[in-house]
This record gives sequence, C-alpha cells and structure tokens, in this order.
Amino acid sequence: MQKRENILLRFTNCVLIGFMGSGKSTIARELHKQSGALLLDSDLLIAFSQNLSIPMIFEQYGEKYFRDLEEKFCTNIAKNVQNSIIATGGGMPIFCDVKSMGRVFFLHLEFEDILARLDAKELENRPLFKNKESAFMLYKERLEAYQKSADYTINGNQSVAVITQEILGLL
Ligand code: S3P
Repeated sequence: MQKRENILLRFTNCVLIGFMGSGKSTIARELHKQSGALLLDSDLLIAFSQNLSIPMIFEQYGEKYFRDLEEKFCTNIAKNVQNSIIATGGGMPIFCDVKSMGRVFFLHLEFEDILARLDAKELENRPLFKNKESAFMLYKERLEAYQKSADYTINGNQSVAVITQEILGLL
C-alpha cells in the first residue's frame, strides 16, 4: 500500500482566512483529511467553550465579547500550537494578529460568488451577514486587511480538491 508522505514536520501552522462563506472550514477539513495534521476551527472551539452557538454568543454577550474570545484563541495558538490547520472566523484578520499563528492562506472570492454559495440556513448562523448590502460593505472594508495578512492568496472559486492540492503544494 502506498504510504502517505508525512507532511506534519514540514510546516508551521497553516492558517486559513477569508470572508464568511469563502470555504475556510470546508478546505480546512479536507486539508486535515489529506495531511493528517490536527485541525482547530476557531468558531467551533469558541462555541464549544461557551456552550452556545455563535449567534447566541453575539446575542447574549455582544460582538466585543466574541472578539475577546477570538483574541484569546489566536494568542493561545501562536504560543502553544504547531503543525496544525487553523480555520478562522471571517473577522479574525481585522481584530487579531493572524500572522502570529503561522503561514496565512487567504481564500479569495468575489462577493457575488460568496453570495451564490450561502443558503438561508447558513446566513442564519452568521450574525454579521444581516443583508446583502451591509455584508457587501463589510466585504469591501475587509479586503485590504485580508490581503495584508496573507502569505498566499488562493482563488477560492475552484473545486475543494484543487484548492486543497494547491495549498498542500505550498506548505
Ligand atoms: C464573522 C464570521 C463568522 C463568525 C462570526 C463573525 C465575521 O465565521 O466568526 O459570525 O466577523 O466575519 P465564518 O467566517 O466562518 O462565517
């Protein structure tokens, strides 16, 4: 049987950033499957730590509280985690030093392409995606921060398999 190359020792953390709906969690899961590297998803871990969904955290405690949790997640990863895949929430590059966590891959898509991917259920889980107009404003405001934080910009409008291979090739 063909052995998988052990890429665990080849890279520092692989950090995925991008706007809501750009596919960070999906790509992170595929990278995890293909590489065997540990996967840490900030939204999942934050929700788990609070025993609340992300919309409930926003509703009960407000955005500032959520951003403080993201900041803690980021600091903790930077200090204590290596050789792992890190999926971030869409706001992390604005509020945290994502570069401190590792090598940063920005999944870039046009806003229209993001919109086409998100169904009503997915919008419900995203308190900052209130409507198309305000989300587009946020997208435009954030683009520069994503680009500045990125070591690599990846065309997110490709298949999961292609994006995953591209990132694995860059690690
Ligand atoms: C946010 C994006 C969400 C989540 C929270 C805030 C943002 O994650 O962290 O709702 O500020 O863009 P996704 O990017 O996975 O949707």
